[in-house]
Amino acid sequence: MSGSRGNLSQLFARKPLAMLLDEVKGENRLRRVLGPVQLTALGVGAIIGAGIFVATGAAAHNIAGPSLMLSYVIAGITCIFAALCYAEFAAMVPVAGSAYTYAYATLGELFAWIIGWDLILEYGVSSAAVATGWSAYFQSAVGKIGIHIPKLLSESPWKYDPLTGHLASTGAIMNLPALLIVVVVTAVLVKGIQESATFNAAMVAIKVAAVLFVIGVGAFFISTTNWHPFAPFGWTGISFFGHHVAGQVDGGGAPLGTMAGAAIIFFAYIGFDSVSTHTEEAKNPQRDVPIGIIVSLVLCTVLYIAVVAVLTGMVKYDQLDIAAPVSTAFKQKGIGWAEGLIATAGVAGITSVLLVMMLSGPRVFLAMARDGLLPKATFGDVHPKFRTPWKSTILVGIFVGTLAGFLPIDYLLHLANIGTLLAFVIVCSAVLIMRKKHPEADRPFKCPWVPFVPIMGVLSCLMLMFSLPVANWWRLITWLALGFVIYFIYGRKHSVMKHHQDSLEAGGTK
Ligand code: ALA
Repeated sequence: MSGSRGNLSQLFARKPLAMLLDEVKGENRLRRVLGPVQLTALGVGAIIGAGIFVATGAAAHNIAGPSLMLSYVIAGITCIFAALCYAEFAAMVPVAGSAYTYAYATLGELFAWIIGWDLILEYGVSSAAVATGWSAYFQSAVGKIGIHIPKLLSESPWKYDPLTGHLASTGAIMNLPALLIVVVVTAVLVKGIQESATFNAAMVAIKVAAVLFVIGVGAFFISTTNWHPFAPFGWTGISFFGHHVAGQVDGGGAPLGTMAGAAIIFFAYIGFDSVSTHTEEAKNPQRDVPIGIIVSLVLCTVLYIAVVAVLTGMVKYDQLDIAAPVSTAFKQKGIGWAEGLIATAGVAGITSVLLVMMLSGPRVFLAMARDGLLPKATFGDVHPKFRTPWKSTILVGIFVGTLAGFLPIDYLLHLANIGTLLAFVIVCSAVLIMRKKHPEADRPFKCPWVPFVPIMGVLSCLMLMFSLPVANWWRLITWLALGFVIYFIYGRKHSVMKHHQDSLEAGGTK
């Protein structure tokens, strides 16, 4: 398949599939060590974490009430649309880089840059949000054995105030546990994927057991009266760039209701897409990556809905704890021993999310560096012994650690969601474009019901994006603008595709 034609401008130059596949045959490639079970475990490892264990509390308490179950259904369906599109691409373009690479093959260099830059935001900010969630559960777990982190070092200096919609001071200096866990995970990742995948598998087993425990034991404590009123903040909660469209709003004008809840807890699903960033490390990517993406997502969707049903059935939504809602619900029901158990499992579970999330960012950097869009010496360097993109892993660690140490979780959560939703919109659109432009391309996994699934993917992601507070749009636009500056100063000039095109034009190739 020949993607780029000589007369296409560089901005829209597409990277031919054959060229992508050729690149991973070289020296600087990652090891193929992951099978379907490990990939699914990486998926589950990335998915179940701070979203369900932490964000659920505030989302039910302040935004959706018991109807948060439905919010989880809405966000889950949205992700299934996107997952089917990711799976088609992951099988077709089985190299590192995920959505970035798919965009390069279909929409051209500029879109590829946009999505790559956006993915860095997604993985970086999600990791930071997860690290702050980890810190909350860690503090709750060690608090049970009498260890208390001094307040000054226990949380971000600011927190979101729903009454005003602004950040208010907490009196703390920084979230030290969040920063420290980022340092530890960075060190593990520099050392290598094989160790990380094994460690991840153990963590996943612990957290799935904890979730099943919550559902199995918690079910006996459900009181159906707690589910009334079911949607105390209404069923919608949609705004458009800060203009209220449907439902209630909080003191800062942020939307409230079931839809608004879905836009927040969408975070709980982030991570299935990271399976596709490991394509290059998969033993049989065409078969196993789609399995990893879809099985992990469906499994988590079912578990989430059950957990939220149990949680809001056990404790009235307005009495749910904000910091560690799942473990605290058991304390509230007088089952104190379960609280410590769940808090500890929560710490393990959230650690594995952090591991996968922080593993993904450097792989996107690696793909971008290979294309010359970022400096190769830093972002494309694979460690000679560990075979990991170690320099970019450390850089990502610094970025994530700084965010996690100083920003509050809800701020990070919103930003991670909007960035991820944008990536999903682009991937779903790219499936449609690729089907039209290259119907003949080999698709070992085909997204079903095209164009229905990709179109629904785009529309549902956009709907969730509009259900987020408007400030996130501005943050996203600022991040993308910064990305444009870097692209036009560096990437455009050093692009491998540009040199390829130039040499074609100069007649330098045979
Ligand atoms: N889905 C991941 C979590 O909930 C990011 O922690």
